[in-house]
Amino acid sequence: IDLYGSARRNAAGFNLADESALRQLASAMTGLRTEHRAVSAVAVSVAAAGPSIAITDPADRRRVLGYWQPLETAALRPVVQAARAAQPAWNALPVARRAELLERAADRLELRRDDFLFLLVREAGKTLPDAVAELRETVDFLRYYAAEARRLQAAPTVLPGPTGEHNELQLHGKGVFVCISPWNFPLAIFTGQIAAALVTGNTVVAKPAEQTNLIAIALLRLLHEVGVPADVVQGVLGDGDVGAALCADPAIAGVMFTGSVAVAQAINRQLAARRGPIATLIAETGGQNAMIVDSSALPEQVVKDVIVSAFHSAGQRCSALRVLYLQHEIADKVLHMLGGTMQELVIGDPALLSTDIGPVIDEAARARLAGHAARLHARGQVLEQRSLPEAARHGSYFPPTVAAIDDIAQLDGEYFGPILHVIRYRSRDLDAVIGSINDSGYGLTLGVHSRVESTWRRVQALARVGNCYVNRGMTGAVVGVQPFGGEGLSGTGPKAGGPHYLLRLVAERT
Ligand code: SER
Repeated sequence: IDLYGSARRNAAGFNLADESALRQLASAMTGLRTEHRAVSAVAVSVAAAGPSIAITDPADRRRVLGYWQPLETAALRPVVQAARAAQPAWNALPVARRAELLERAADRLELRRDDFLFLLVREAGKTLPDAVAELRETVDFLRYYAAEARRLQAAPTVLPGPTGEHNELQLHGKGVFVCISPWNFPLAIFTGQIAAALVTGNTVVAKPAEQTNLIAIALLRLLHEVGVPADVVQGVLGDGDVGAALCADPAIAGVMFTGSVAVAQAINRQLAARRGPIATLIAETGGQNAMIVDSSALPEQVVKDVIVSAFHSAGQRCSALRVLYLQHEIADKVLHMLGGTMQELVIGDPALLSTDIGPVIDEAARARLAGHAARLHARGQVLEQRSLPEAARHGSYFPPTVAAIDDIAQLDGEYFGPILHVIRYRSRDLDAVIGSINDSGYGLTLGVHSRVESTWRRVQALARVGNCYVNRGMTGAVVGVQPFGGEGLSGTGPKAGGPHYLLRLVAERT
């Protein structure tokens, strides 16, 4: 999509109807390059320490993909110090130079696409279409933030002043940003955070999710290969303690975090309590995302959009549909069609293009979903649950499940997987429905299916959500086209892939 004349286009896709594209994708799934097999911190003055921890394929736990070495928290101080020492010179470069490095990284990523697709499928359990979409989103983030930084920082804004006075407003990097990213978009979110911080003149210490360290380190190496200096972007590996220790460091200027609400709140408290500058926090957290379907909606379209929004990506998108509100008059029909469609979903190896639903990320995730589903079963609320195929028995799979509930308030948190909750409502109660969705405190995505314009406009006007989708699915926001991010418990803003994002990362100097 051409947004700024010829300046920027979203990444090109693959034609999955083309035999040679398909053969190439299949061959990309055959093996892991040896340099990805054992990873440790990519940081100046740090020697890897600690025991090696295995990373296994979520689709088949017997398959060990590689090993990673955690870092002692005591080793973090020099990492942050190096990032801090590197920042003034990095910030002093012309923005065009930093932007060009991001653009080079985008080009290199497209060239090395097969490596990254392999890691997305095998380490993160992504289906091939999801992996392709994530790679494209990553390329988009790199090019979009490069274009945005050129727009904002190429020249200072000259402001009016009396004769003889010259006033200008300049935008500079703030310092060192700690980037803490999740496993559900281990390439796109990881890269998006880093790219935005770097291009505006900050240096970065990144701490990826432990489940997806291989792909994170592969990306950091790629950034270094294209010319980003080693002390300008560093990566450290470890669990939450490593993230917490980074956030406690008085030398950091801010934290970019995507993950759970509880961790975002803990980081917020930690930043407030530590010595050092008042830190910037950009947090993107979860959602209790709903879709409202009235009786004017087209059932076939609703079912297709529900399947994609609730079950594709194994329900592991922050944007995924969790609570489906069906107007009473259409509910039986939609549920009947949904049940039938669920039976057609192919659950299996994410490396096969025929697969619709791959594994969830790990055994802990599977167990949490299973616990929730067991409680729904015990209360007789489960309407539909797929069985798992034999081939899934060595992996961390959870089957698509639909359960009836009475009220969104009955959900005691976000269940990050393919479990859809259904609530029936009467048309006269529409405002109350929107009220209870707002009362959940989350505000990330919302879907509305209605062919009555006044209805979807009313939903849009009353709902406090970051991304409201009308008569379509509610996942897969496109960089620069659908800026993504929520409010309330769902995050601090600004929206990723939107025109205000970089402004949170800069210091304004007059
Ligand atoms: N950006 C992703 C989406 O829109 C979020 O998880 O689906």
